Amino acid sequence: MNQKVKRGVFGKEIYHYFCLESTNKVAYLLAKKGAEEGTVVVADEQTQGEGRGDHYWYSPQGGLWFSLILRPRMISSETSRLSILGATGIAMSIDRLFSSLKVRIRWPNDVVIKDKKVAGVLIKVRTERSDVNFAIMGIGVNLNVREFPSPLSFIATSLIKETGDSTSKKRFLESTLEELENLYFSSQVNGHMLLEKARSFSSLLGRQVEVITTEGKFQGLVQDLDEDGGLILRLESGLHKKILPEEGCIKERSPKI
Ligand code: BTN
Repeated sequence: MNQKVKRGVFGKEIYHYFCLESTNKVAYLLAKKGAEEGTVVVADEQTQGEGRGDHYWYSPQGGLWFSLILRPRMISSETSRLSILGATGIAMSIDRLFSSLKVRIRWPNDVVIKDKKVAGVLIKVRTERSDVNFAIMGIGVNLNVREFPSPLSFIATSLIKETGDSTSKKRFLESTLEELENLYFSSQVNGHMLLEKARSFSSLLGRQVEVITTEGKFQGLVQDLDEDGGLILRLESGLHKKILPEEGCIKERSPKI
């Protein structure tokens, strides 16, 4: 892949590796040494890809595995929205390049096609007191991954499986960085555009779900998403509960009515 993609800030500097343990680890070290916002680390293959909740992320050749260094002007409690921002940017990029695919976001960070995961986002934040020093947005897209080992084969898909064609990594990276950059800078001025886009791709609005959180399980109807990337649940008691991306994950109960 070329070392430069046509971008403003995101992707101005790209470090490309054939194989890494994890792009997140390398990006974290670069950011600690002062790398600029928008710097990207990409690897053709990862041997210890990191997923959410300490899960291993399957990262063979063919996928797009990259990490983006961000220096957001936010306090640490506001960084929750970066998960939803990442997932929305990927969904917009897939939608732009493959308009016939029905891409959805399963809160907070799963990008899915026909309920199977095609991409995911992992955010790592380094803070100093309540200030955010930097954040790493790790993105994994199952681009040209033809096969998944069991049990992943039941829950994961790829763009090549869905479209029958392979996709240029460079083109997909360029398009995703462009969507992410627009969302990132516009949401620093006004969070509405991000929220509207995230809502339009949400697979959960209006659905009954079970959310597993650190506080326990909650069942209810998904009423909305909010600017922090939180899920607003109407509980069976009639009360509302807001759950932040880092606090929970979804177990779906019934199809959308
Ligand atoms: C998830 O569990 O959904 C998040 C997956 C994030 C995977 C990406 S691949 C590039 C970056 N480097 C990693 O080690 N993980 C992220």
